[in-house]
Amino acid sequence: MGEVIGILSIKGGVGKTTTTVSLGVTLAQQGKKVLLIDGNFSAPNLALHLGIVQPEVSTYDVLQDKANALGAIIESDYGFDLIGGRLNRDKIFYPNYLKLKEKIQHLKYHYDVILIDSSPSLDHETLATMMASDKLLIVTTPDHATLSCTLHAIKVAKQKKVPIIGIILNKVYGKKFELSLDQIEKLTGVPILAVIPHDINILKALSELRPSTFKTKETDSVVEYKKLAAFLIGKNFSDRRFKTKLKNFFFKKVPKQEVNRQLKQSQ
Ligand SMILES: Nc1ncnc2c1ncn2[C@@H]1O[C@H](COP(=O)(O)OP(=O)(O)OP(=O)(O)O)[C@@H](O)[C@H]1O
Ligand SMILES: [Mg+2]
Repeated sequence: MGEVIGILSIKGGVGKTTTTVSLGVTLAQQGKKVLLIDGNFSAPNLALHLGIVQPEVSTYDVLQDKANALGAIIESDYGFDLIGGRLNRDKIFYPNYLKLKEKIQHLKYHYDVILIDSSPSLDHETLATMMASDKLLIVTTPDHATLSCTLHAIKVAKQKKVPIIGIILNKVYGKKFELSLDQIEKLTGVPILAVIPHDINILKALSELRPSTFKTKETDSVVEYKKLAAFLIGKNFSDRRFKTKLKNFFFKKVPKQEVNRQLKQSQ
């Protein structure tokens, strides 16, 4: 029986869709059967990140009982399947987004991991992802504005009793003015499980409508996504790059997110 993981943040543009797609690739590379679902109903763009402009059957049709979730699945070129979203041009009829949970339950028999890419708005759309998920990964960036939204997302998840696996800290420049990992963990009470640097290759990949983690050289962001994917399925990904070996030789300190992953895995 598979697991549904919601990729959440209630701030726009922090990297939810990027995370969903990147993890989709790296989980599939590690042998898992993976399905991605666009849970951003009002501004869907998961499929667009992969070059699919308007999926014929979308989450919208599934929620409106016009299609079965199995019939909405598209096979991607990147090792995972997806159910894309479509812009709702029907201004009169809004489906009950909270039905998402019951609509996708049976898919757990077909997939090891189902990732839902959430909407940034704190309304029924985000709640639909929360309620349909067994666990959540919260995406944030290291600045106060985003952190305040992150704190709110965590509060709501706790109220709804949906377990949070941890935080993905995205678009990190490694500058002194950014919030530190310690500050973020202290304020949120949630462990950081991955630190994704700001990486121009991610922007380039999006401009080419392909995942940045697919068949590409192992940049720091790609390796971190691989490590996070391995952690999520109870495995370990070891970074064999020469530069990492060199770094480990001179700097013995293990990164906090690495320690967190190991601690969580041993629990
Ligand atoms: N680590 C990163 N480094 C550089 N650019 C990034 C990184 N992560 C995401 N981006 C870029 O940031 C932009 C927003 O990313 P994305 O669409 O994944 O955010 P989102 O949280 O899903 O947004 P929305 O809330 O609108 O759905 C995209 O241009 C994406 O390529
Ligand atoms: Mg998005």
